[in-house]
Parts: sequence; C-alpha cells; structure tokens
Amino acid sequence: MKTIKFSDNTELCSLGQGTWNMGRNPLKRKQETEALLTGIDLGMTMVDTAEMYANEEFVGKVIEHIRNKVFLVSKVLPENASVEGTIRACENSLRKLRTDRLDLYLLHWKGSHPFEDTIEAMTRLQRDGKILRWGVSNIDVPDMEKIVAMPDGSACEANQVLYNLGERGVEFDLIPWSQSYRMSVIAYSPIAEGRLLRNPVLLKIAEKHNVTPAQIALAWTIRLDGVMAIPKASSSAHVMDNFKALDIILDEDDLRALDATFPPPTKRIPLAGW
Ligand SMILES: NC(=O)c1ccc[n+]([C@@H]2O[C@H](COP(=O)([O-])OP(=O)(O)OC[C@H]3O[C@@H](n4cnc5c(N)ncnc54)[C@H](OP(=O)(O)O)[C@@H]3O)[C@@H](O)[C@H]2O)c1
Repeated sequence: MKTIKFSDNTELCSLGQGTWNMGRNPLKRKQETEALLTGIDLGMTMVDTAEMYANEEFVGKVIEHIRNKVFLVSKVLPENASVEGTIRACENSLRKLRTDRLDLYLLHWKGSHPFEDTIEAMTRLQRDGKILRWGVSNIDVPDMEKIVAMPDGSACEANQVLYNLGERGVEFDLIPWSQSYRMSVIAYSPIAEGRLLRNPVLLKIAEKHNVTPAQIALAWTIRLDGVMAIPKASSSAHVMDNFKALDIILDEDDLRALDATFPPPTKRIPLAGW
C-alpha cells in the first residue's frame, strides 16, 4: 500500500477521507457513517474535518468507538487563529470530536492574524498533548518560506492544498518545495468534486485498466512521493472503489495522455483563490 510518513515515522495510507458536507442531512447520516467506517476499516484512517464544516459532532460520534484507529485532522478558521483563539478553537473541536487529542491540526487558510501567533498556539497545544502535529492549508510557497523561518515554524508537518488533474499548479513549486522539507502535501478535491469523472481521456484510461475514472484520478494524484489525497465519498461503494486506486500503476502512455489533456504547469501559478 502506498503510504506517507510524518517526522515521527508515523506512516499513513496515501488515501484518507474528506468529510466536507457530511453529517448535514439527517437522512444521509447512516450511509455516511457506514462509508467512513468502511474506509477506516480498509486502512484509509485519515479523517479530515474542520471547525468550518460544522460536522465535528457527527465525525466525533462516528469514530468515538475506534478513536485509536483514526488519524484525526481538524482545522482552525483564520479569524480564530490568534494565540488564545487557536487554543480555544482547538478545545472546542476536541469537545465536539469527543477526543482528547488531534493527530493533525491545520490553519485552514491565511487570515489577518500573524503566522507567529498561530505557530505559538500550535506549539503550546502540541506541548500540552492536545495536538500531536500541526500544519497549514492553502498556504503558498512564499508564505511557507516565511513560516519555516519563524521560531518553531519548521515543526510544520503538512500543507493541505487543492490538487487534482485539472489543478496542477502546485506541481511547479509547492510540491517540490514540500518534498525538500519532508512536509506532507494533502491533496483536497482530488476528483474535482466529481467534475473529472466524465472526461473522455480519463474514461479511456479507466477502461484500459478495467477500473473507474475516479480510481484513475486518485491513482494519478498520489503518484508523487509525500503526496496523499482525501477524497470525500458518502457511500461505502464509493469508498471501496477509491481504496482500489492504491493498487493502480499508471504507465508512461497513461501519464503522457493525461499530460496532453491536463497540461502540467510551465510557470509558477499562485494557489487558486488564496
Ligand atoms: N482545506 C481546504 O480548504 C479544503 C477545501 C475543500 C475540501 N477539503 C477537504 O477535502 C475533501 C475532499 O474534497 P471535496 O469533497 O471538495 O471533493 P472530492 O473528494 O474531489 O469529490 C467529492 C465528490 O466526488 C464523489 N465521489 C467520491 N468518490 C467517488 C467514486 N469512487 N465514484 C464517483 N464519485 C465519487 C463524491 O460523491 P459521494 O459523496 O456521493 O460519494 C462527491 O460528490 C473534503 O471533503 C474536505 O475534507 C479541504
């Protein structure tokens, strides 16, 4: 199984599970619960939530009985990312998630609070055992350079960013930069919220491998070292489908065809929307 490794050698399956929009509709909760539990059972143990998703109570209930099997990720909203605000937000997330610690806590995106303050809070939370690691999300290379140069900034373990076949900008600089710092890249929206699934080239490659387009999109996203992906799937069928992407090896012809349809970046492209 393809994995990524954190600095303490904790190794995780390169596919985790997103939860955006999950837990909202009471009629869907049973199916979503089964989906998340199926994924964890298969080994896709990273479960990604955020205070912004307003579903931490739902996620907490789903994983309560198997907390030790899960690598739990949550995020602080930028407007809360002052020193005291980050600590308060984390404590709220812990209460909602029914746990005493997060495996990874991320700054959701850059806001007006100085990075130094958020880092100070992350360092305190880590010292107190409330988070085991911290990282960021949607932060581009120029700001990452600043973060790693700040006191305790080099403890940043991960950057969660938009990355899929249709959004390859991070390949130019952010992914190589992160690899050089041994910082994990967590690709969100790896199947572009489903928009990639009808692409004819993806369909053709999927047919050749006798798999689904979602599996090809995921196998492609996690092909680089240190990059994992967190697809959101709200049915066990989709989760099982996604898990099988870990077995797919894309050959040179596949990669060439995908490059022709979804060209790699030839210059720096700032992170979309941030
Ligand atoms: N840090 C950030 O700023 C940020 C931003 C966006 C997202 N995220 C995180 O990343 C996660 C994933 O991103 P996302 O939810 O935007 O998009 P995504 O994972 O690219 O796509 C989710 C969509 O794909 C469908 N899908 C999943 N597996 C499938 C399969 N095997 N076959 C067909 N369709 C499939 C899902 O349908 P079903 O639900 O019906 O299965 C859903 O409609 C989020 O849930 C969230 O945890 C983080």
